[in-house]
Amino acid sequence: MAEQKATNVTWHDHSVTRDERCKLMGHKGCILWFTGLSACGKSTIANAVDRKLHDTGVHTFVLDGDNIRMGLNKNLGFSAEDRAENIRRIGEVAKLFADAGVITATAFISPYLADRDKVRALMGQGGFIEIYVNASLETCEARDPKGLYKKARAGEIKGFTGISDPYEAPEKPELVLDSNSKDIDELSNEVIAYLKSSGYLS
Ligand code: ADX
Repeated sequence: MAEQKATNVTWHDHSVTRDERCKLMGHKGCILWFTGLSACGKSTIANAVDRKLHDTGVHTFVLDGDNIRMGLNKNLGFSAEDRAENIRRIGEVAKLFADAGVITATAFISPYLADRDKVRALMGQGGFIEIYVNASLETCEARDPKGLYKKARAGEIKGFTGISDPYEAPEKPELVLDSNSKDIDELSNEVIAYLKSSGYLS
């Protein structure tokens, strides 16, 4: 976990508050934290939510696993330490977006409970919506869009989540999406319904 290295640094409060920004936007900034196995549908659902909300004038953004690993987090691999640092950085970035009033979806396996809980704690009084995209290993393996499960089974990828590395399912997620049997349209509507019923969207 990252330690504080810099000394002689001081926190400055913003003159425009998060509440003021959200008022201007017309909705509350928050993090939609999608978690689940590779190929469970995290990115697809996050992008469907993004599209639907954007089309109705809501400010949204998606931070997506593979894309972020090609830029901001290109120096990180898949050891437990690197996954923790991956999630820590994403959490910090997502919080900045949420503070700016944006409804921010993140689509990372984020396999460890403790790492996700640290992001929840970072968000303090709310605005962290943990969404467990629940698809069985069998379902994900049958989809295998990138052929990675096949490689993992063949021993070509070490420490692959669900095969040779752990996935710790959320204990008290705000939302559980059944990605075994429901389609993307239905699941994205469930997320939007949650945002409305919880007061993030009017
Ligand atoms: S996380 O565990 O640190 O949250 P992240 O979501 O960023 O993972 O990246 C997961 C994606 O990286 C997978 O969808 C898959 O495409 C790819 N990947 C490559 N190696 C692994 C691995 N060992 N375990 C899981 N995913 C991997």
